[in-house]
Amino acid sequence: MSTTLNHFKQPLIEQLELEMQRYIEEHVQEEQLKESMIYSIRAGGKRIRPLLLFVTMASFQKKVDFGAIQVASALEMIHTYSLIHDDLPAMDDDDLRRGQPTNHKVFGEALAILAGDSLLTMAFQLLSQSQLPNDKKLLLIQLLAETSGSSGMVAGQVADILGEGQKLSVDELIAIHRRKTGELIRFAILAGGILADQSQQTIEDLAKLANHLGLAFQIRDDILDVISDASVLGKATQKDEMAEKNTYPGLLGLEGAKEALAFEMAQSRAVIQVLQKEQLHIELFEDLLEMFSIEEKGVNK
Ligand code: IPE
Ligand code: IPE
Ligand code: MG
Ligand code: MG
Ligand code: MG
Repeated sequence: MSTTLNHFKQPLIEQLELEMQRYIEEHVQEEQLKESMIYSIRAGGKRIRPLLLFVTMASFQKKVDFGAIQVASALEMIHTYSLIHDDLPAMDDDDLRRGQPTNHKVFGEALAILAGDSLLTMAFQLLSQSQLPNDKKLLLIQLLAETSGSSGMVAGQVADILGEGQKLSVDELIAIHRRKTGELIRFAILAGGILADQSQQTIEDLAKLANHLGLAFQIRDDILDVISDASVLGKATQKDEMAEKNTYPGLLGLEGAKEALAFEMAQSRAVIQVLQKEQLHIELFEDLLEMFSIEEKGVNK
């Protein structure tokens, strides 16, 4: 990551983490529930969705204000809940996440399920109380529900689980990836555009960018499951094949998956060129795209 992006990122991610923790502490009375929620929120992670939101906003020369921190906090809470549930024995059955034992390993399955439920609900509570004009607030609440819920991330997770053990077509795989991972990334980028007061045309172009980046991010995750290891990723690897998951390397081979990733990144860069004509400053964005490469080391936890 370049020093420019690092400088941009640090204070904002600090504010994000502070806000998530503050909000949980203020609103959760039940001690064990609070502990379990904070455990997963504090475990770290790349915070790539909040960062995408911040970078999109800032690239249109709009200052990242507290309202944006609140929107990004809601988004990261939903993402964290999705990981807690994704790791449960009934789903991917994982013991390690963000370099630490998974939530259910520490707090038990019941509390992990409930901590997830609580983070999901809290995201909407926080968003509804955020310092945003009412029209934007309503738009973002709707968009977050759509992208995280039963036509978005949850739908993708269902298709992922039901597809285990079956050989799907590439189109079916794309449909899984776009929803289980792409949709929250779409929220991040569109929210950045909405908060930066962009036109309908620009929002549509941002959606195109998000489609490519969202798919790229899950292709990368599939590839890393094959070629990386737990000490770098902070989660177990070589798991997808064992679980008979549908993945890019599984369907297209490792080289095919790498080519697909390169293709989606090239498409993303092409859309960024279009957005540059719509006043998007591309420097931070270009740096951020490095986080989608499979060579990026040591920042994956
Ligand atoms: C992991 O997401 C699950 C996917 C959707 C690929 P991240 O790779 O963003 O996980 P963290 O937040 O950095 O732990
Ligand atoms: C998870 O995809 C996507 C989510 C919505 C959480 P994976 O199951 O591939 O994510 P990891 O590899 O466990 O992080
Ligand atoms: Mg999964
Ligand atoms: Mg998983
Ligand atoms: Mg994975």
